[in-house]
Amino acid sequence: MPTSTWTRHHVLSLADFTAAEYDIVLQTAASFQEVLSRRTKKVPALQGQVVANLFFEPSTRTRSSFELAAKRLSADTLNFAASTSSMTKGETILDTAKTYLAMGTDIMVIRHKEAGVPNAIAQEMDRLGVRVSVLNAGDGQHEHPSQGLLDLFTICSLIDPANPRLELLKGKKIAIVGDILHSRVARSNIWSLIASGAQVHLAAPPTLLPKFFAEYIFEDEPVPPGQLFIHWELEPALQNADFVMTLRLQKERMTAHLLPSLREYHQLFGITRAKLQRCQPNVKVLHPGPVNRGVEISSDLMDDPEFSLIQSQVTSGVAVRMALLYLIGSGKT
Ligand code: NCD
Repeated sequence: MPTSTWTRHHVLSLADFTAAEYDIVLQTAASFQEVLSRRTKKVPALQGQVVANLFFEPSTRTRSSFELAAKRLSADTLNFAASTSSMTKGETILDTAKTYLAMGTDIMVIRHKEAGVPNAIAQEMDRLGVRVSVLNAGDGQHEHPSQGLLDLFTICSLIDPANPRLELLKGKKIAIVGDILHSRVARSNIWSLIASGAQVHLAAPPTLLPKFFAEYIFEDEPVPPGQLFIHWELEPALQNADFVMTLRLQKERMTAHLLPSLREYHQLFGITRAKLQRCQPNVKVLHPGPVNRGVEISSDLMDDPEFSLIQSQVTSGVAVRMALLYLIGSGKT
């Protein structure tokens, strides 16, 4: 497997990922996808290593797939859920992380509702001079790098299953639709899709997609010309799109009434079979889950394997998370 050029110790964001790093993750995930199709689905790659899943926020697929990925690599796994931990007795996040460090944890997979928590823990581990890696499993509205990578893998391996690679997306039109303002998934996907040379079209009502969103996320860098477009209507984003990524309305992050009603939202921005008529004939739809059925996507479309990649995103998640754990963990032994 192509680990020789992998030097990254933590995976906190896709903002600074290089094209070579995307390709290493895609190739490594493809190898693990093959392993997962065998009768014996386990490899000894991380035997003796400890992977701790520190989830300070609820999760179904991300937490379970990191756990399964670690187990398939023969690592020992520790699972933590904030609601049943000593945090209810007042222990701080950093002290919780140090507790797992003292037990010999090699990789911490961290999800938190506040942006920047995985970065802060990674900095603290570096300051302590310990070889513990941190994987960001979603921090507030900031980033969700493993989701961005599994979405990329799902799309690239649909185009070329034998050799998924970044350049396959060059020139493809990808619409990202929904609650972009509150979405860490959208941010991570924007970085990977822009890096691939795809055209990214964001569509949402203005309350969920501010006018200067692109300038805001690119901060001091120029927004790549001809690659990122903002629409307050759905139709121009869907026109000839190759892939449509829908996003959940993040009601838990909305501090004000940003939408008149869910019904109106579905009428204007919900993805349905009829609206897909504007896209390329073989268009595919993605959603990171969990889904509000009948809101961001119609229930029948969600379950239609001709259009929906939702189940294969979940399947890809295990192989991609195996790849990340392996690439980071194999540098430790
Ligand atoms: C996403 C998340 O938690 O950011 N879900 C996921 O990880 N599969 C998206 C969401 O919660 O809407």
